[in-house]
Amino acid sequence: MTAPSFGEKSYWDTRFTKNPSPFDWLLPAAAVPFLSSIKSSLSTAPSSQILHIGCGTSSLSFTLKSLVKSPTDIYNVDFSHIPIEAGRSQDGSMNWKTMDLLSSEQVLEFKGLVSVNDVRGFGLIIDKSTADAIACADDVVVELPYVITAEGIEEKSKTTTNIHPLVILALHMAYLTVPGAKWLIVSYSTSRCSFLTSQNPDDRYVKDDVLEQGFTDPRLLWKVIKEEGLSAREEVSGTDDVVARPVVKHTLYTLERTDFKLVAR
Ligand SMILES: C[S@@+](CC[C@H](N)C(=O)[O-])C[C@H]1O[C@@H](n2cnc3c(N)ncnc32)[C@H](O)[C@@H]1O
Repeated sequence: MTAPSFGEKSYWDTRFTKNPSPFDWLLPAAAVPFLSSIKSSLSTAPSSQILHIGCGTSSLSFTLKSLVKSPTDIYNVDFSHIPIEAGRSQDGSMNWKTMDLLSSEQVLEFKGLVSVNDVRGFGLIIDKSTADAIACADDVVVELPYVITAEGIEEKSKTTTNIHPLVILALHMAYLTVPGAKWLIVSYSTSRCSFLTSQNPDDRYVKDDVLEQGFTDPRLLWKVIKEEGLSAREEVSGTDDVVARPVVKHTLYTLERTDFKLVAR
């Protein structure tokens, strides 16, 4: 049996078409420790705007409303139009946008769009198992120097290379946020953020030659400031005779945006 293609849009379009009902991955939207972290990050956020990435049909989009002063501060995004259209028709007071987070064109267009609404940058990114799905995507083929990069990068020669999807996600999220912004990632994996933290040069997702040709090291953009375990009840399906509902641990990562500036070339 092949594993589901969690990184592919066609997988999610099919899944949401078959089952458009609300569904929350890893944790219920009302999970208290996670909501407490969101509230605490919001209380110190450098901008009130929230980017909820890969919202899917999670009830969290609606729970977030109770935590903000204005629903217009919330931007729910997903690359599948199905949950986005459903969310918009359920509650149009928030912003809903169909967008592929790995597409530089779509991210640049989104940045232009939100700046019309006076959003200079997001202060908080909420990510419940979206980095998990994106980690399953294929590497992204990019041109170097990359279109979103450090200031003053000169083009020596044009080449293409493959970049891990989580690195592209980290770069795009950095471009959309202000210094001091937080990115809260709930993941089933205890190594989801190792691309930012590992001290072992062999683990580096972006090698030196790629950095030299105009790709920004994601470790300059995000610092992992906290990693904590979150308990969740494991779903047991397919039987009424459930004898045990084991507690599983997920990980909540808190990342903080540095003040390293990125520009679009
Ligand atoms: C595991 S589900 C999590 C959904 C929701 N956050 C939750 O907690 O229930 C991953 C979500 O990420 C979305 N997704 C995956 N890759 C994406 C991409 N490249 N751009 C935007 N959304 C993506 C999927 O459509 C799906 O809704």
